[in-house]
Formats: sequence, structure tokens, C-alpha cells
Amino acid sequence: MQFFSYKDNELHVENMAIEKLAQQYGTPMYVYSMNSLIEKVKAYQQAFADVKHTIFYAQKANENINILKLMASLGCGADIVSGGELFLALKAGIPANRIVYASVGKTDAEIEQALNAGICAFNVESPQELEVINEMAIKMDKQAPVAIRINPNIDIHGHPYISTGKSMNKFGIDYDDSLALIRHAANLDGIKIVGIHSHIGSQILNVEYFAAAAQKFLQMVRSLQKSGIKVEHVDMGGGLGVNYKSIIPEYAEDSLVIPTPVDLAKKVKHVLKPLDCEIYFEPGRSIVGEAGALITKVLYRKETNVKKFIVVDAGMSDLIRPSLYQAYHQIVPLQKIEGDLEKVDVVGPICETGDFLAQNRNMPEVQRGDFLAVMTAGAYGFSLANNYNARPRPVEVWVDGDKAEIIRERENVERFLE
Ligand SMILES: Cc1ncc(COP(=O)(O)O)c(C=O)c1O
Repeated sequence: MQFFSYKDNELHVENMAIEKLAQQYGTPMYVYSMNSLIEKVKAYQQAFADVKHTIFYAQKANENINILKLMASLGCGADIVSGGELFLALKAGIPANRIVYASVGKTDAEIEQALNAGICAFNVESPQELEVINEMAIKMDKQAPVAIRINPNIDIHGHPYISTGKSMNKFGIDYDDSLALIRHAANLDGIKIVGIHSHIGSQILNVEYFAAAAQKFLQMVRSLQKSGIKVEHVDMGGGLGVNYKSIIPEYAEDSLVIPTPVDLAKKVKHVLKPLDCEIYFEPGRSIVGEAGALITKVLYRKETNVKKFIVVDAGMSDLIRPSLYQAYHQIVPLQKIEGDLEKVDVVGPICETGDFLAQNRNMPEVQRGDFLAVMTAGAYGFSLANNYNARPRPVEVWVDGDKAEIIRERENVERFLE
């Protein structure tokens, strides 16, 4: 279903005109469709309904506590990467035994916190980390549930910063070394091997890469079974891509075919089913990405000899993806504008040349005071926002039908004194 669409030439989220929200709550503002979030989770659950599975929401994508509570109410677990995320997941009501913990740099304090909480699995990323967890678990008179994170050396042909499954990346253990490490781990008193894990990258648009990872899992689990080591789960990580280019068809410059959880299921289910293991997924972007937009106001038009700039009140401190990953986000006006398009850079107010939301973009002719929506900004938008240039982070609002609610207040500058 389309949760952001024009009705009577006005962009709506569900049944709410977004401009009304922008007038009421100010800009920059993140706005989310609650029913889109629900639909995305259900799409995964339905696609894998006939196999034993759990969806662990990768909360780094967006950890607004209300969104986490919604994920808990839908039966999701959490994929976490820090002690802070563990704290938030538990506060949101996600049970500890539905929390998996990846990170190449878990501190001793974080390991202790996770052992005390009783999480479902440590996704272990190095031999030394394994030894530390083993020693700490023995000291605490516990056994740590461990899934070794395998680096399968699969190139997803994406942006290098979000490709994680190649041998040159810092994540996981080389596929060829994993078997020996798991055999060793299975003999450690403080460790219980419960699964294997991998996460090959993000914004993956070709499900064949997941099929390749599943094949590697199949071989690995079969070899483990031959050694008498039974794993309870295989964790495929997250990574399914979202539509950054054509979510609002009226202004699309390009179109993208986005794989769905059903496409993913078709590729991996039949490979993994014979293993009799539970399948875990850790989607983040594909749950929240399309469910959110960043709303911003045009401050100025500015023209130089070579370029036209649209200066808006949101910048890289609110949404860093264009600057950090050269990411493309569709940008559309809240009130439809007829007429010719013009080529512009949409830039923020921050003192960096790298502060842009779009470059060389064909846009309708917007004017000072117009509102724009930067689409597909629900994932790695607010969660990567910061206070650079002493800018308070934006207000977050979600909409359910024709009802809107603030789910995080705009930050107050007084906070900068703390
Ligand atoms: C271990 C792990 N799992 C899951 C995810 C979520 O990926 P995505 O948001 O692309 O679904 C990430 C993202 O970085 C990750 O590092």
C-alpha cells in the first residue's frame, strides 16, 4: 500500500496532510506512517510463516522508543550493537531472550550487561572476543549463548560503507576459519554455541546475494552437524533494500525495482528448511526506511554563475545519508507544483560544502516558504542525526490514519549546557 501520496495536490501521510503537521510542529520534522511500519513487519512474518523464524528489528535504523515499543507489540525481537541499545530494547518491552547482539567492539561492561540480562545470542566477531566472553561468563557462573558471525566474502556491489560481508571488511570471521573456531568454541565451558550469523550488507537490491549466503550457511551447518555440533538457528542478518527513487511516482526521475520479503523467502527458505534450524532475520532499513520522511522548509533561492541552490532548513545534521553515502533521496514539494523542472542543488544551512540533500536534481520551481519532503528517510535518518553547529535534533511525529502524535519533542538548546 502507498502510505505517502498526493490527495488533492497535497502530500499526505496516510490521511493527514503533511503541511498541516509542518505548520503545527515546525520544521525540520521527521514524520512516520505507523501503518506502513506495521505492514512492513507483517510482510516479513507472512513471507516466513511456514518456517520457524523470528524477526529481530535492527534498531540502529531508528530507535525511537515508541517505534521500538511498536516492534515489541508486533512480536519482533531486537538486533542490537551496544549497551545503550540493550537498555532501550529492554525499556521498550522486548524480552532479553529475543535480543541478539552484534558488534566488533563489545566492551567488557557491555558483555557483562548482556550476560546479566540473559540475551538470546552474542554474535561473536573475533577469536579474542570469544575468549573474553568465555572468561567473563565462567567468572559470572554463566554460559554465554553464542552465534559466530561468519564473513562469507560475498560482494553485494553496494556502497563500500554499507558492504559488510567481504573478507576485507572488519566484520565477522573468515568463512574458511569459522568451522575450526566454532569447534573450538563448542568445547569452552563458558560458551554454548546456539547458531551462526552473517550480515552481508545493506540496501541490497538483488536477492541472489542472500541465496549465496544461504548456500554457505547450508554447507557450514552440515559440516557442524557431522562434527556433532547442533545449531539451533541461522541468522541471515538484515540488508533488504528500499525505494529511494520513485516512492512518489509523480516526481520520479528514475524507477527502482525493490525486492520484497516474499522474494527473499523464495530464495532462502528451500535452502535452509532441510537444516531444521530456526531462521532469524535482522531487517532495519526495510522496516522503517519507506515509513518516514524528513520535512523541511525552503529558506532561500540562490543562484551563482554556475548553479542554482535551494537552501532549506534541514541539513546534514538531520539527515547525513546524502553527504556520507552520496545517497539519493527523492525530494518532493508538499503542495504539487506544475510547470517546467529546473536543475538545482538542495542544500542545508550547515557550514560544510558537503552539506547537501540533493545535487544536480531536477525539481519543480520551489519558492521561499514552500515545504519539501525528503522521502524514504525513516531509516538511518534520525538515528544518525547530531548536534553539529549547535542544531537541536528535529521533532518526530507519527501518524495513524488521520491522527498525529509527537513521538519525540524537538530538542531544546538548553540540552547543550548539560
Ligand atoms: C549486524 C547487522 N544486522 C542488521 C543490520 C540491518 O541492516 P538493514 O538496515 O540494511 O536491514 C545491520 C546494519 O548495519 C547490521 O550491522
